[in-house]
This record gives sequence, C-alpha cells and structure tokens, in this order.
Amino acid sequence: MSDKPFAERTVVVTGGGTGIGRASALAFAALGASAVIVTGRRKERLAEVAELHPAIVPVTADVTTETGADAVAEAVEGHGGTLDVLVHNAGVFRFTPLTGLDPATAREVLETNVLGPVLLTRRLLPLLRSPGGTLVLVSSRGGHNPGPESSLYSASKAAVHSFTRSWAAELAPRGIRVNAVAPGFVRTEAYAANGLSEEQVEGLFAGVAHSVPLGRVALPEEIATWITRLAEPASALVTGQILTVDGGMDVAGK
Ligand SMILES: NC(=O)c1ccc[n+]([C@@H]2O[C@H](COP(=O)([O-])OP(=O)(O)OC[C@H]3O[C@@H](n4cnc5c(N)ncnc54)[C@H](OP(=O)(O)O)[C@@H]3O)[C@@H](O)[C@H]2O)c1
Repeated sequence: MSDKPFAERTVVVTGGGTGIGRASALAFAALGASAVIVTGRRKERLAEVAELHPAIVPVTADVTTETGADAVAEAVEGHGGTLDVLVHNAGVFRFTPLTGLDPATAREVLETNVLGPVLLTRRLLPLLRSPGGTLVLVSSRGGHNPGPESSLYSASKAAVHSFTRSWAAELAPRGIRVNAVAPGFVRTEAYAANGLSEEQVEGLFAGVAHSVPLGRVALPEEIATWITRLAEPASALVTGQILTVDGGMDVAGK
C-alpha cells in the first residue's frame, strides 16, 4: 500500500482551522495531498494551520451560506478544478433543553450541521471526480444515541447519518462514495465554544472517561485517522457506512 495515497489529490475539509478538521487536514497533507483546502469563518485559525504545511490552502467561508459554498468552489477551480475528497466536518454543539429553548440557537445548529453539508455538496458535486470522488461526513454518536438537553444537535447528526446512506445510494452510479465517522467525546474546543470553562470541560471529560469502556476521551488525531482511511482508495468498496469511534460506549449501552 502506498504511503502517499492522496498524491495529486485535492481535498476540502470544512471547519479545518481547529479540532478534528485541523487534524484531518494535516493528515491528508502528510499522506501526500497536493492541495488541502481548509474552510471556516475565523481567518486567523485557518492561517495558523496553513503555516504548518505548504499544501494547506485557507479559505474563509461560512457553510451556512451560498456565497461560502461559492468561495470553496472557486478555490477548487483554482487548484485544477477537480475535487477528490470532501470532508464535511464543520459543526456546532449547543445545549438545547426544551425549557427556555432559544429559536436562534436551534436555527444555528440546524443551519450549520444540516443545511451546511447540503449547500456545499450541491455546489461542489459538478467538480467531484467521477468515478473516484468521495465524501466523508463527521457525524456523532448522538445521531444514533440521542441524550437529554441536546435534542437539536442529536437530530442534526441523525440527519447527517441519513445523508450518508441516502447520498451513498444516490451517488454510487457516478462512482462516488459517501461515508461518515461518528465520534463519541473528543478533546477539542467545541466544549469551550459552548460556554464551558476550562475547569468545567476537564470535569466533564473526567466524568465521561468513567463511562467510556476504553477509559478516555479521544484525541482529534484518532478521529482524523478514520476520516482519511474511509477516503483513501483502499476503501474503494466501502460506502454508506457510519463508523462509530467512541471507545466502546455504544456497545456498553452508555
Ligand atoms: N468534540 C467532540 O466531542 C465531538 C463529538 C462528536 C462529533 N463532533 C463533531 O466533530 C466536528 C468538528 O468539531 P470539533 O469537535 O473539532 O470542534 P471545533 O474545534 O469547535 O470545530 C468546529 C469547526 O467548525 C467550524 N464552523 C462552525 N460553524 C461554521 C460555519 N458556519 N461555517 C464554517 N465553519 C464553521 C469552526 O470554525 P469557525 O468557528 O472559524 O467557523 C470550527 O473550525 C463537528 O461536526 C462536531 O459536531 C465532535
């Protein structure tokens, strides 16, 4: 097997400035991709990742807007015009207890996690290599194991599970594969972005570690590994699959 399976390939990773997206972008670059377009709203976070590898191309783009999708398409066109791998990673987690639910927060979760992948897939589909292109969606175990006080997030990820299977069937005749990775708990900025202090985040992770059969939360790189594996040519017959990476929480019924 080649140690550069993405040589000559162009990759887009949404939300590539931080967390799982950043780790994935660096992994694709290390595996030989010629261009890894990272997107997000915060220019400075994208620039930080781009400094780490010459193949990484920062593009400021909001996944909830059509102009954002256009900006990503322009970047692909500027790098040969054919897209090999599209990773829908951008997403937001928000607590949404029914009591006091803020409609603006509900819209933010649905527009980012559900509408975002739809708008970008629609825009980039004509540029996706056919046959041979592939999509990887970053979902969550919440998509099949919803918990209390985060029903909007879980529902958004259930939609991502659904896109994975539906688009896999729809795009198979064009030779395009679609898979998802569904992480459990991953050590990223997502929790702080949701208003938790550093102490609260550490307390949450310490508590969660007890209910993870393998004993700890994941690092972003441990999710990125599966994103690249699902995208690589060696997975040529894998499509419509949702791979849970949660340290065994699902099987333990947690
Ligand atoms: N961490 C976990 O425990 C966990 C568990 C299961 C699933 N996930 C999923 O993993 C994915 C990555 O999250 P993460 O944990 O790595 O958290 P993160 O570091 O907060 O990453 C989220 C990324 O999404 C981008 N983003 C958010 N809204 C956007 C928008 N409207 N347009 C463009 N980019 C946007 C953010 O960039 P900007 O803010 O700069 O736009 C950020 O880079 C998400 O889909 C999340 O639901 C995470």
